[in-house]
Amino acid sequence: MQRSFNIAFLTSGKSRGSNFEAIMTHLQERNVPIETKFLIITRADAPITQRAEKFGVRYILLDDKNTFEQELLALLNKNNVHLVVLAGFMRKLSEDFLQKYSGDIINIHPALLPKFGGKSMFGMRVHEKVFKMKEKFSGASVHYVNERYDEGEVIAQQKIPIGHCTSAEEIAGEVLKIEHQLYPEVIEKLAHEYLKLHK
Ligand code: GRF
Repeated sequence: MQRSFNIAFLTSGKSRGSNFEAIMTHLQERNVPIETKFLIITRADAPITQRAEKFGVRYILLDDKNTFEQELLALLNKNNVHLVVLAGFMRKLSEDFLQKYSGDIINIHPALLPKFGGKSMFGMRVHEKVFKMKEKFSGASVHYVNERYDEGEVIAQQKIPIGHCTSAEEIAGEVLKIEHQLYPEVIEKLAHEYLKLHK
């Protein structure tokens, strides 16, 4: 039997889940040997749950901040999860958690890191700043997660021209399209690398 690369998604709040949808669609279409073990939500009313149902992905509500990391760690270990994919997860994971979890954790950021990253740089704030700074290019960055916001090693980036954009919303729309291509590709690549090493 072929080994599989086990992943789990982590979201928080009222996560919309467009990256989750793009990743799941890509994995299905390309028949990538990846097993999606579960999706974590922190609010029962998160719109992403509808997408999870569509793809038959089990979602688990962890809504107690005090026990969140402990419960998450137990689930990751029990399900032998190799890669945690942050998809609209807005919290910081503690150093203790990052040390205890033996797999990798990745995130996508809607800008060209190290520019426009950091604690308060999320959602539309990123694109508003990019627009204000009259940047000619923006893009998306997939990076490993460490104990500092958006500072983990960058795995892949895709750059797009945004000089023609007349608003931050327009930039956000263009960047999101790129996110939906880049994130699935990186996950597929990481899966193949892992499976090559662990035949
Ligand atoms: C994306 O813009 C991503 O860059 C950021 O969070 C947002 C999640 O959007 N990390 P979605 O839930 O995948 O639609």
